[in-house]
Amino acid sequence: AEDPIEVDPYQNAKYSCQRVTPLVNPNQKYSDALELLEKHAEFLGGDNNLARALAFRKASAALRAHPRPIKSMSEVENLNDLKGGKHCKRVIQEILEDNFSTEVENIQSDEWFQTMQTFTGIFGCGSTTARKWYEKGHRTLDDIMQSEGGSLTLEQMKGIEHYNDLNTPVTRCEAERVLNIVRNEAEKILPGVTVIITGGFIRGKSSGHDVDFLISHPEEGKEEGLLAKLLQNLRKYLLYTDIQRKTYGEVSSSKRQNTMDRFERCFSIFKLPSESEASENGAKGEERYQDDGQEGGNPSKKMKMSSEVDSPKSDNKKTWIARRVDFVITPASQHPFALMGWTGSRMFCRSIRDYANKEMNMILTSHGLFDKTKNQFLEAKTEREIFEHLNLPYREPCERNC
Ligand code: CTP
Ligand code: MN
Ligand code: MN
Ligand code: MN
Repeated sequence: AEDPIEVDPYQNAKYSCQRVTPLVNPNQKYSDALELLEKHAEFLGGDNNLARALAFRKASAALRAHPRPIKSMSEVENLNDLKGGKHCKRVIQEILEDNFSTEVENIQSDEWFQTMQTFTGIFGCGSTTARKWYEKGHRTLDDIMQSEGGSLTLEQMKGIEHYNDLNTPVTRCEAERVLNIVRNEAEKILPGVTVIITGGFIRGKSSGHDVDFLISHPEEGKEEGLLAKLLQNLRKYLLYTDIQRKTYGEVSSSKRQNTMDRFERCFSIFKLPSESEASENGAKGEERYQDDGQEGGNPSKKMKMSSEVDSPKSDNKKTWIARRVDFVITPASQHPFALMGWTGSRMFCRSIRDYANKEMNMILTSHGLFDKTKNQFLEAKTEREIFEHLNLPYREPCERNC
């Protein structure tokens, strides 16, 4: 049968950043399975498993960009990132034949994997900590609170306190309500400020694990000092903040992982009033808060703003929900690069940086684009100009879901 679908010439290109990768694709069951294997390998940890995880992700990205439902293994064989992947192909073949994979089902029902999922669901707990807790015999959040109570970071304590809320997906509607609150306060402090939602929502996802804000001002430098004031004005909404100062002007390397960008930012837990509460503008919500209001100015310190528990106590009607919110501040000159970095997906960004480096001899980060051949930075006013510098076809955010 003739294929009526017009296939993008880049559909099977070497780098996933070259392809169109929509949010919804006809091979979801394969990509979901491969991403579960990716997660399993990430949980195991160590260089070898992390390399395996990346291979699973690349295979999944290839399937996510494939415009037709897979019908045969020869079709899979033709995909660039699957040629060598025996393990991936075995799993795809299983699903193709039986509509499920025994290996995937075994992982899903495995106690270690389930416990790792529970533990890494805690804000502030990565695979390494989760593995350590499992090895000490912990299996539940109660085990952690009883045995690790004294050694938990503030982040992890807050993560456990708000565990159920933070593991309930953030809806687009909620993200927009947070946006309205944040934008309103930011505009009061700095007229002309731009506050936009990036991350999964800008790629078209209808829900996410957090809300990512990029905050800037068209006039370079105006954004300086904004974050501290903004957080101060938003303090009644903030259940936890981890403020990190900018390090992009500095010569010496910071303690941050070098994969992370160097913008001034705040990883927070945001207390979002329920819709009815917000319209009544509840004084009830306010009096729960004992703002301990000190340390407004020290951005390198973690700041505790409320010690409320998010489970209902006396009145068992909770009138708010805890949401993870990231604030990132960018100067205008770096904005398109920051936008690309925070729009994601993580795989898209990994891919486009790899492409820039290997195919163009350029270094792309969330701060800029450096041409090693010309020995100079290349400016961009829009994301489109970054794609042009890289000689790549432009991809809309909703096409970057690899
Ligand atoms: N990011 C980053 N530095 C961090 C955290 C995230 O550059 N410290 C980038 C990621 O690379 C990603 C984007 O910000 O491209 C959004 O990250 P995240 O919120 O974790 O994922 P989303 O794609 O938004 O998905 P979700 O719906 O789960 O939030
Ligand atoms: Mn996000
Ligand atoms: Mn996420
Ligand atoms: Mn985020």
